[in-house]
Amino acid sequence: MEKVGFIFDLDGVIVDTAKYHYLAWRKLANELGFEFTKEQNELFKGVSRKRCLEILLDIGNVKATQEQFDTWMVEKNVDYLAYIEKMDSSEILPDVTRVLEYLKKKNIPIALGSASKNARPILEKVDLLPYFDSIVDGNSVTKAKPDPEVFLIAANNLGIAANSCVVFEDAVAGIQAANAANMVSIGIGDADILNEADYNFNDFTEMTDDFLKSLLNKEHKA
Ligand code: BG6
Ligand code: MG
Repeated sequence: MEKVGFIFDLDGVIVDTAKYHYLAWRKLANELGFEFTKEQNELFKGVSRKRCLEILLDIGNVKATQEQFDTWMVEKNVDYLAYIEKMDSSEILPDVTRVLEYLKKKNIPIALGSASKNARPILEKVDLLPYFDSIVDGNSVTKAKPDPEVFLIAANNLGIAANSCVVFEDAVAGIQAANAANMVSIGIGDADILNEADYNFNDFTEMTDDFLKSLLNKEHKA
């Protein structure tokens, strides 16, 4: 049997950091004189920090000089880091650790494939760093999801063929990136939104060990 690799997105898959990203973006929006809603924050899932700021400024109809843009990028991240400062393993989403343990016991290589530049410190805070054989994050890529780059680098680092990798993602752009990489895509969240995924689950509590086992034995993508 050919070896299989598993790639996890971070935000929204392993931890629910969307709420902290939201608070930091909302603070910036309010300072710039406009509202930023939770619904609008949905657009930011899986999207790079730079692109998020571009969208935010569009929402507020704010024109920025390059210097202001750079300052606001830093400001948002400083606020975000303050919000995540106290994160600990209690913020790991339900059954993520069970799935990681299952894969580890079977010696399956595991990578992180995240758009975040803060991925490593977050994994450290929640004590999950030791599970990962490779971490590919916003510091390692030149092209954002839905480009497959982040997942292709992860597969390469694991030494596994792309079409033998399985990706867990909560963002539409992430599912599209996994599909573009010819990997098995598993949507974590609303199946209506993540309707391009090969499989859908609301969260990891719905994912049985038997299902995980089936992924280890399955025929991979052509
Ligand atoms: C993604 C999040 O994982 O990372 C996005 O879903 C976020 O909302 C992006 O904008 C970049 O994160 P960071 O931590 O580098 O600002
Ligand atoms: Mg995500």
